[in-house]
Amino acid sequence: NQDQLKQLVGEAARDEVLRLPAGQILGIGTGSTANYFIDALAPHKDHFLGTVSSSNATTERLLKHGFKVLDPNEVDHLPAYVDGADEIDPAGYMIKGGGGALTREKIIASMATQFICICDASKQVPVLGNFALPVEIIPLSKGIVTQELNKLGGTVTLRMSKETRTDLGQTASQPFVTDNGGWILNIAGLKIANPITLEEQINQIAGVITVGLFAKEKADILLVSNASGVSRIT
Ligand code: A5P
Repeated sequence: NQDQLKQLVGEAARDEVLRLPAGQILGIGTGSTANYFIDALAPHKDHFLGTVSSSNATTERLLKHGFKVLDPNEVDHLPAYVDGADEIDPAGYMIKGGGGALTREKIIASMATQFICICDASKQVPVLGNFALPVEIIPLSKGIVTQELNKLGGTVTLRMSKETRTDLGQTASQPFVTDNGGWILNIAGLKIANPITLEEQINQIAGVITVGLFAKEKADILLVSNASGVSRIT
């Protein structure tokens, strides 16, 4: 099943990073595949001087395993960043942010020489866009950014939290809030023919913190699992 495939590629990523010289700092991503990688790497954590984490959830998991987690501001370079993706195309361009951690993920990815993307084969697509593209925004810009994003031709919706509040005497769903206090707009129905241009275009809109399109920070190494094993694509 899919969990076994995620575990398999998590273990392949452990073997990949253990080939790096010892004593360096490793960037670590967010999500269920990244979690398998963290668990597989835990017995070998002393190979690394420490880690830089892309989310509160990942930090919690790393600390539980006894990894050292450093402030990105104390680190000026990472040899590698390991993370999953929601979609990846044949050029290594990705949609990320299904878990809402896209901004820190992109920051940590930009610090790293190599982006090692880990996923099962269900994430590979010929053209990006079937998975709704997440855009993290400053909450007060929701109206104007929605207007701008609507011009791209997709359907824009505000991501809502799965938890509902009942403390007001009624059930009301709330916007999903990121680790940075941002909100997320999802753009469904895009066919992303030119990821580089679209990333730049969305980055230009005032109020946008980060778009979950990873074109500039694309994957350098892809480890992808399917029923017959793990392939390494560079
Ligand atoms: C987190 O914000 C995302 O970018 C994840 O990398 C992505 O959602 C992949 O998650 P899974 O490994 O759980 O599919």
